[in-house]
Amino acid sequence: MISSELISWYQSGHRKLPWRETRDPYRIWISEVILQQTRIDQGLPYYNRFIALFPDVFMLARARNSKVLKAWQGLGYYSRALNLHKTSKTIVNKYKGVFPEDYHELLKLDGIGPYTAAAVASIAYNKPYAVLDGNVARVISRLFAIRVPVNSATGKKILQQKANELLDGKRPALHNQAMMELGALICKPQAPLCSQCPLQSGCKAFNTGIELQLPVKQRNHVSQTIRIHYLLITDGQKIILSRRNSGGIWKHLFDFPAIELTTDKKLTVQQLQRKLKNYGITTFERSGSAEGLKHILTHRMLLADYSVIKTGKKLSKLRTTSNEKIVSVEDLKKYPVPRLIEKIIELAEIDRITRKRKPKAQSIRQLPVL
Ligand code: ADE
Repeated sequence: MISSELISWYQSGHRKLPWRETRDPYRIWISEVILQQTRIDQGLPYYNRFIALFPDVFMLARARNSKVLKAWQGLGYYSRALNLHKTSKTIVNKYKGVFPEDYHELLKLDGIGPYTAAAVASIAYNKPYAVLDGNVARVISRLFAIRVPVNSATGKKILQQKANELLDGKRPALHNQAMMELGALICKPQAPLCSQCPLQSGCKAFNTGIELQLPVKQRNHVSQTIRIHYLLITDGQKIILSRRNSGGIWKHLFDFPAIELTTDKKLTVQQLQRKLKNYGITTFERSGSAEGLKHILTHRMLLADYSVIKTGKKLSKLRTTSNEKIVSVEDLKKYPVPRLIEKIIELAEIDRITRKRKPKAQSIRQLPVL
């Protein structure tokens, strides 16, 4: 009953989106992973670019890691891009390029959790699995006036059960798309358009006037703050990049050589000199710096500072480590970097600084929160 009204509403005029015009599991998988972390208007250009670069699973599997990361740049959560790449290879090598239809088989793939497995199984193969993402969780918590936090383990369990009960087992692809569309267009977080909602009469939250109180979310505390000072070391033409090899969310991305600090302390001249001495730099000019750039990660806050260090020595003559790479300033944009580093590159106007003969006088600015 609920599902048929929902589907009629959806069919009477939903947004036309490229991943809705296809049953190709590869394209549906890509769209779902992108949409897990961004809104449709922001995700759409990424999707189109990604598909243009890697039109099928074979092309993705064959691509270089850095090209995949570069296509992902700006979306954040780079581990998702790495998992996409890894899984594309598994699909090619283990499944001959054909995506498994089975939900449990899909779950075995890297980066595919219950949400993505349900989305691919239902949308591509019309298998009866209900998706539960943020939009769907909001719809369900309002429909049944569920006050358990949607981001708690118990909340997720209850909501998934309800989502399964609501699912039209004969039309899971349509049902799931319609649920997500309703959450995005009608059952909006701040100003739900209840008067246009096809499920209004059966909505417990609407009937008791509590739709704006739902869904309940529990706060996830930022547990740790890390302060880091990035060094943009340049000889006027080249700059040093550092590749992150260890695990963590920036694995395989590039950043700059850095000094980790305790939260409440800024970089001292002695620390800077000691670090630069390791490279063989004894004289340098600090031409532009900034501090206090705040970057919020899942459970941590990063407080970033940077300094542009100009040295008279050619960078190729310096002692760098095996994970460091000396690159032309013009080529900087070819390397996959985290959003924070992209921001620092912009703020430092590194290309302008390197073109100038005489660098600007040292200036320390307080930066806004990103
Ligand atoms: N959000 C996540 N997946 C989506 C989809 N397939 N359609 C619309 N919004 C979505």
